[in-house]
Amino acid sequence: MSEALSNLLREDRRFPPPAELAAAANVTKETYAEADADRIAFWEKQARRLHWDREWDEALDWSKAPFAKWFVGGRINAAYNCLDRHVEAGNGDKVAYHWEGEPGDTRTITYADLLREVSKAANALTELGVRAGDRVAIYMPMIPETVVAMLACARLGAPHTVVFGGFSASALRDRIQDCDARIVITSDGGYRRGAPSALKPQVDQALTECPDVRNVLVVKRTAQDVEWTEGRDLWWHEVVDKQSDQHTAEFFDAEQPLYVMYTSGTTGKPKGILHTTGGYLTQVAWTHWAVFDVKPDDVYWTAADIGWVTGHSYIVYGPLANGVTSVMYEGTPDTPHRGRWWELIAKYGVSILYCAPTAIRTFMKWGEDIPAEFDLSSLRVLGSVGEPINPEAYVWYRTYIGGGRTPVVDTWWQTETGGIMITPLPGVAEGKPGAAMTALPGISAEVVDDAGNPVPNGAGGYLVLTEPWPAMLRTLWGDDQRYIDTYWSRFEGRYFAGDGAKKDDDGDIWLLGRVDDVMNVSGHRLSTTEIESALVSHPKVAEAAVVGATDPTTGQAVVAFVILRGSAAESGEEAAKELRNHVASEIGPIAKPRQILVVEELPKTRSGKIMRRLLRDVAENRELGDVTTLTDSSVMELIRSNLSTPG
Ligand code: WTA
Repeated sequence: MSEALSNLLREDRRFPPPAELAAAANVTKETYAEADADRIAFWEKQARRLHWDREWDEALDWSKAPFAKWFVGGRINAAYNCLDRHVEAGNGDKVAYHWEGEPGDTRTITYADLLREVSKAANALTELGVRAGDRVAIYMPMIPETVVAMLACARLGAPHTVVFGGFSASALRDRIQDCDARIVITSDGGYRRGAPSALKPQVDQALTECPDVRNVLVVKRTAQDVEWTEGRDLWWHEVVDKQSDQHTAEFFDAEQPLYVMYTSGTTGKPKGILHTTGGYLTQVAWTHWAVFDVKPDDVYWTAADIGWVTGHSYIVYGPLANGVTSVMYEGTPDTPHRGRWWELIAKYGVSILYCAPTAIRTFMKWGEDIPAEFDLSSLRVLGSVGEPINPEAYVWYRTYIGGGRTPVVDTWWQTETGGIMITPLPGVAEGKPGAAMTALPGISAEVVDDAGNPVPNGAGGYLVLTEPWPAMLRTLWGDDQRYIDTYWSRFEGRYFAGDGAKKDDDGDIWLLGRVDDVMNVSGHRLSTTEIESALVSHPKVAEAAVVGATDPTTGQAVVAFVILRGSAAESGEEAAKELRNHVASEIGPIAKPRQILVVEELPKTRSGKIMRRLLRDVAENRELGDVTTLTDSSVMELIRSNLSTPG
């Protein structure tokens, strides 16, 4: 980390905001001062950008910390704020989504269209017995019905849990079971890399162990053959299309659960991050407007999957709450050609693009000639999220995608934070490639040392959040104690994010990656423990250790060291292949190790803890660090001599 750090701090390129953008920016320097003067009043003002059926009595109740309540006593409906109020204000004809399927089919959906579809879906869910508080699982490709399903749930006060379509049947099963969802919304499949890929079989498999699920609503997207369980499975078009397109939204308490999103933690069991309604919507709506400097005629595109928090906050809730026009794209960036994103930007006149550094590094690899073939002059703000953006990728993004004009906002946040927390503002900050810069107005962040004391400028430590914020997770679904232990115990009274960070000489924040056993692969969070558990669940594996090794494209890559059981040890190469597939079927293809190294021993401390730091050195082909705490330092030699084993 220290080498990476000193490289970062040698970065001295600076990009001031474009004068025209700064002059008309939604947020200015004064906003920081305003929020500093009264943080709570600042958030109350942002909450008033939304429609409340009844205003709150108290903005923040922190009396039972770390369990927060925001806008106590207020009554609100998220779907009403995303749809009805825009239609009622006369903006029903405004496009909510320019949706583009991977094969090139398109749908233009206005706010009025979306309201009608969501109303029908809400009526259908009501007919299926869904009531406020019931959980609904959504396992879908990137199609408009995914948004419709989420908002229909929100409208009814029924928290949704969207499971990324790339997750396996077992991952889906675990999530359905953990939050006890009784209804699953899915589709026959979606298009990926030029071919239909199936989703329904995973649902069928998952549900063999979820007896309480009473109905599966299936959207027909690819028209591929599906297995059908009579009485349980229902076609979306048969149940939803016949419903009335009128539905009166009920207003719920500000703390009504809006959704549960599962994310990897440091143990094998995924954590169900609970977000509620009023504070979440306030922060995602305000941050979307402030950080991207969104104007009424912008065309906004978050190129991420709705199955992740980025999609929830900045494809669905933020942009819709702000009444903005978005692009939504179903497929991969290289189908049918490597210029697909740039073609979409030119076609729809996208003015704001938000994506992950891993995508940018992939485009760098493909070369700047590809975007150069398209007219990208509509772009005015670029955003980055999900992992540290290295300065080279930042500058490439700004130069070849942004035409050297556009600010790049490097936004730090987490599933847990619900919305953006640390970022430069495009009309205010002088951009520093690689720096997430400063906490937003109304947000309090600090970098602290081991003992919890703030570090001086120029030093590194751990990122903590020192005050509650509106979109913060409220707890882990069904596990208050784990919520306290995971986030609020490391540093008394402060939220520990799990990230390392550094303050530069100006006091600006640079993120340095996770300090726990969580990996970040292509902007996706994966737990080393979860993959280790998947590996040892295979009969051939005696022991496994997983590390995230630096990878030029994906940021980190999964590298697994496994000890095979006696007789299996003969066929290392074959076993490695089998194990990669096993991990894909246990968790999902995104968790597949890049490399599996079959070894005879693993390096451990005297207390028996696997020394992942050493394994990371091996995986990254670095010189070995200090091995004196190993029980037997020859283990590392054994590992090295096995490095020839292909993954
Ligand atoms: C990392 C995604 C550096 C970080 C919104 C965090 C980042 C984890 C950045 C959360 C950034 C996210 N710079 N690192 N701009 N944004 N991260 O929950 O390690 O999928 O803890 O949320 O991604 O990932 P999650």
